[in-house]
Amino acid sequence: MPAIVLVGAQWGDEGKGKATDLLGSRIDYVVKFNGGNNAGHTVVIEQPDGSREKYALHLLPSGILTEGVTPVIANGVVIDLGVLFEEIDGLNARGIDTSRLQISGNAHVIPSYNRVLDKVTERFLGSRKIGTTGRGIGPTYADKMNRIGIRVQDLFDPSILRQKVGAALDVKNELLVKMYNRRAVEVDEVVEDLLQYVERLRPMVVDSSLELSKALDRGDTVLCEAGQATLLDVDHGTYPYVTSSNAISAGACTGAGIPPTRIDRVIAIIKAYTTRVGEGPFPTELLDDKGEFLRKQGAEFGTTTGRPRRCGWVDTVIGRYANRVNGVTDFVLTKLDVLTGLETVPVCVAYEVDGERFDEMPMSQSDFHHATPVYEELPGWFEDISHCRTWEELPENCRAYVEFVEQQIGARISVIGVGPGRDEVIVRHDLLHD
Ligand code: IMP
Repeated sequence: MPAIVLVGAQWGDEGKGKATDLLGSRIDYVVKFNGGNNAGHTVVIEQPDGSREKYALHLLPSGILTEGVTPVIANGVVIDLGVLFEEIDGLNARGIDTSRLQISGNAHVIPSYNRVLDKVTERFLGSRKIGTTGRGIGPTYADKMNRIGIRVQDLFDPSILRQKVGAALDVKNELLVKMYNRRAVEVDEVVEDLLQYVERLRPMVVDSSLELSKALDRGDTVLCEAGQATLLDVDHGTYPYVTSSNAISAGACTGAGIPPTRIDRVIAIIKAYTTRVGEGPFPTELLDDKGEFLRKQGAEFGTTTGRPRRCGWVDTVIGRYANRVNGVTDFVLTKLDVLTGLETVPVCVAYEVDGERFDEMPMSQSDFHHATPVYEELPGWFEDISHCRTWEELPENCRAYVEFVEQQIGARISVIGVGPGRDEVIVRHDLLHD
């Protein structure tokens, strides 16, 4: 079978695990193609004795937990090597085999100075800060574009590594010392820090684009899982309040070296309401008790930073946009159960900006900042839906809500999440074969 890309349709944390769980054993490769340890997902795995084991992953692709799957960290990722080996060691200590992991030699590493720069730059920006995760993601992608980045393959040639770190520090130390009043960083300390991982890294490093091409030729199924989400994409998101990589489906092409002609399906995850962490515009945000209700019912606190997430109603303008820029074949609607118990459920269908109606995302950042949502109020439901496993079992108002959202966003909703558990889903169309 084919290459499938899995993306988030909103500002992240939509619950991609619902789709990966469903695809589970039918996948041969799980590829991370963008971002770094700014992502975070909690995977709960049911044990043979019925107990539940919880794993928090930030950098490793979720496929690491599934036997028989080859997890790949592709060229588009930025890797904090300390975090990588901490996660590997943590999993090994719990009996998980991580030896199948493949890492692209073209992926960039996050040197320690970029973690420092991420934090001091945010502090410097003050009220204009982005609200980054502080993991050095932005500065490392900036170095990549500036052609002063350090790649995984550089670690295998210490003299080249030293030269490259030296060239980067010529610029970074100016910034650190003169602008941010921090101490200068020594070349030796960075090189030593990176080289401590080299022998453990060596057997994992591959030409991942070639490996994936061969896998697709063999007929294997390759799942490319985007970090972050559509509106955090550096080109198509709410710039500058975005991450520094391409989180839309096309990011899989550049970030993993898989050509567009080989991608067969694009699955987008959309939550039944909206959340955002960090700064930036958010038209349907609720700053009242309704927002608190969603945060509490949906347990909306960050996996990576623990920050409370900003919450608001579902926004189908964003859903439509995500459909358009990703070329979505199937949506997975998650956390529908969180909306249970509301008299009416507002759905944002358009925006109003200075008296003008926008049915599509406004092109200008200023307009988006001033957008106020136009809502349609749908009747709510009070029945517990977490035990529903078929479409017909859902209460009528709940089905009407799903159909309305589907019609607004313009692509079919194939799967509906009705609870946090693996099996708490309703499958309307198989994600691989229908
Ligand atoms: P950075 O990716 O650390 O540079 O942060 C840039 C923006 O992306 C900030 O608003 C972060 O909160 C947001 N962000 C980064 N990763 C995630 C994620 O996995 N989920 C949700 N938001 C994220």
